[in-house]
Amino acid sequence: MERRKFFRNFAVGGSLLLTAPVIFNSCSDDLTEDDNNNNNNTGGITVDLTDPDYAALKTVGGFAYKGDIIIIRSTETVYIALSKVCTHLQCTVTYSSSSKDIPCPCHGSKFNTEGAVLNGPAASPLKKYDVKQNGNTLTIS
Ligand code: FES
Repeated sequence: MERRKFFRNFAVGGSLLLTAPVIFNSCSDDLTEDDNNNNNNTGGITVDLTDPDYAALKTVGGFAYKGDIIIIRSTETVYIALSKVCTHLQCTVTYSSSSKDIPCPCHGSKFNTEGAVLNGPAASPLKKYDVKQNGNTLTIS
């Protein structure tokens, strides 16, 4: 290998080695940001029940969304929080207050308000979160 060619290859390889950590850190930051947006791996997200965005939760049967979570008020004191991510192929599900179930628009799976599968092709329940109420604050974890 010619000396000039060797140094050119060395310079290109060195540049890649120097930029690799930046690229990997960038990916790592994306995952962290995504986790925070999904609120799946944090210590818990909070919902302020006095916030107008969550006014529907003042009524039994009401529901609201926060990030990728469906929150349903099932009784005076019980709130259910489920993932909006279908367990079949990860389409986004939405709560149907008229039929009181959670259909998936992609392939017809249906879940009940506990997250259990009513109709396939999904074979696994929706992820269910723990919900604790303290006054006007729900903590979902
Ligand atoms: S992604 Fe929901 S049924 Fe296929």
